[in-house]
This record gives sequence, structure tokens and C-alpha cells, in this order.
Amino acid sequence: MKGLILAGGTGSRLRPITHTGPKQLIPVANKPVLEYAVEDLREAGITDVGVVLGHKGREAIQAFLGDGSEFGVDVTYIVQGNPLGLAHAAGCAREFVGDDDFVMYLGDNLLNRGIGRLVEDFESGDYGASIALQGVDDPGAFGIAEVDEAGEVRRLVEKPDDPPSDLALIGIYVFSPAVFDAIEELEPSWRGELEITDAIQSLLDDGLAVRSHVVESWWKDTGKPGDVLEANRLVLSDIDPASEGTVEDGAETRGRIDTRDGAVVESGAVVRGPVSLGRDVTVKEGAYIGPYTSIGPNSTVADTHVENSVIIGDAEIDASERIVDSLVGSGATIASADDVLPDGQRLVVGANSDLKL
Ligand code: DAU
Repeated sequence: MKGLILAGGTGSRLRPITHTGPKQLIPVANKPVLEYAVEDLREAGITDVGVVLGHKGREAIQAFLGDGSEFGVDVTYIVQGNPLGLAHAAGCAREFVGDDDFVMYLGDNLLNRGIGRLVEDFESGDYGASIALQGVDDPGAFGIAEVDEAGEVRRLVEKPDDPPSDLALIGIYVFSPAVFDAIEELEPSWRGELEITDAIQSLLDDGLAVRSHVVESWWKDTGKPGDVLEANRLVLSDIDPASEGTVEDGAETRGRIDTRDGAVVESGAVVRGPVSLGRDVTVKEGAYIGPYTSIGPNSTVADTHVENSVIIGDAEIDASERIVDSLVGSGATIASADDVLPDGQRLVVGANSDLKL
């Protein structure tokens, strides 16, 4: 069994964060989303991993994963170029996959309990594919499956206007190499993409069985800012914290606090977990870091209340304000302008930013 992680795409729904880096490298609890996918594959015993890259963010992903050895896998890069759809991305990997079965993992998806069960399900019978499903509130935003009582898939449809069920395809699939012939026959969908959902439907039409598995524990597609915050909250709720940093006497801490090397909670600062503080983060006197916050490497927070937020890294925050439910990009500076006239917010706002003042 091989692994295939899709790490192309444009990340348009995460702009402006994705102006400076691919969405698959956005950190959740101080670990890039992509790394969770690599770990899930490795834990399922899959170490031969293809990574599909688009035009954007290629270098950053290659710099992060390297040859994979640091993560216990062997990585082969496959360049897709323009994001012409998930099935197109998979099709680019035909040579890499060869005659093997493979797990396809969308590089912006995060799964709580790994993929072991999905792989076992696929291997338990003679299947063309096995898909993971979960009930969602907004089925029109996903690929949707219609499944019979035995868990066999009957029909699939991508982002339907009139959903046949609320069971969404989550971004992890197991395929036999038969999928490649199905992909070659596909026509672009209404959104101009070669849809993996259509490829699976075509396996069904050809009489191959498609197994489904409903995932009970949480799963998150981190495609939008609110999803990143939610994924961060879910991962932090369950974190096994490292304590590589320093909590000075006189600092007030409570709950699980994950601190990486060089992180310091100074005397007079308050941190209420679950919180993750990355490498060389300084929480200064007067700062309050509240639950479900991750602060990325080399950031400093002074005098500010930060809660339920992801600060990606290299940030300077000194604002005497409350920052909540926020996703702050790399290298941001947030300062107070209290005593400067005229009164008002002073902003340098990147393209496609989303501010609530
Ligand atoms: O998250 C689950 C959903 O993922 C499924 O329910 C849908 O059936 C499936 O089509 C997909 O929908 P999205 O619209 O969320 O996919 P997105 O365009 O965000 O792409 C998912 C990942 O695949 C992302 O890491 C980028 C990568 N990708 C995407 C495209 C279109 C590629 O590598 N190449 C591509 O051409």
C-alpha cells in the first residue's frame, strides 16, 4: 500500500494567510496540518508516500518535508501544476502508484483517530475503493454518498444542490489502481475540475464494490479560517503537552500548557490551557493567553488578552486589547494606538483580509 497526499490547490478561502504560504503548512497546535497526514500514513504502516504539489507553495512544502526521513517516511514529489481537480491530482500519480493500492489523503484534512480502520476495511474484501464518511450540517459543501444498510456505497455526488444524504466524503480514500482508468475517462464537472467523486461513481458503474466507513470521532477540513480555529481547539483539547519551555516564578498557569524549547511565560503573565506555545515564544508580564490558543515560534505577546486563536509565528503583539477567535499570519505586528490622535484603528491590511473591529 502506498500513500498519496494532495498538497496543491490555491488556498483561496484562506487568503490572505495563503498569500505567503500553502494552506497545508498552516500550523494547528504548532504543527503543520500536513504533518498530521504524514503521521497517520506512517502509523498505518505506509511509508512510501507521494506528495502532489501545485505551482504555489511548492518550495515551502519541499523544504518542510525534505525526503521524508525526518518523519519516518520516504517522500516522492509529483508536480500537478494547475489545480484541475482531485481526480486530476490523483491521475498525476499513476506512475508513482504503479500496481499498488493506495491511500489518498487531502493535505488540508485532519482526522482524530487515524486511518487504520479505513485501510483494514478496504483490505477486508475485494473493493475498488473505500471511502470515509461523516454526517455534516451543510451537505451542499461536500461530496455526498448514498449508502445502503450494509455500508455499500450506491451513489456519489459532488457538492449537490439537493443532497441525497448528509454523509460527506471526508478527505481520505483508499483506492485500487483501477481508479486510474476511471480517471482517464472523466470529463470536467460544472466547476471545471476532474472530480474524484465522479471517478468513484464510475467504479460503481463498472460494477466494482465501494466500501464505506462512517468516522465517529472528529474530522476537520481546514479550508477556511474558522475551520483552522476549530481544528486547533480539537487538537488542543486532547494534547499531550511538551514542557520544554520555562514558566517563571510569579507566572500564573492553569490547565495543559504545551511549551516548546525556548518558550518563556514571564512572571506576571497568565496562561490558561489548553494552550500551545511554540519555540522561543515569550509571554510577557501583563499578557493573558486564554484557552484554545496556539502561538507560533518567535512571537512575543505583551499586555494583550489572546484567546481561542492561532498566531502563526514571528508576531509582535502588544495591544492592551482582547484578541479572540483570530487567525494571525506570520510576521504580524499588532500594537496599541490608544494615545494617538485622531482616534481610530490604524491598519495595514493585506489583500483579502477579514477584519471585525
Ligand atoms: O474535505 C472533504 C471534501 O474535499 C470532499 O467532501 C469533497 O468531495 C472533495 O471534492 C474535497 O472538496 P474541497 O472543495 O474541500 O477540496 P479542495 O479544493 O479544498 O482540495 C482539497 C485538497 O486537495 C487541498 O489540500 C488542495 C488539494 N488539491 C486540490 C485540487 C482541486 C490538489 O492538490 N489539487 C487540486 O487540483
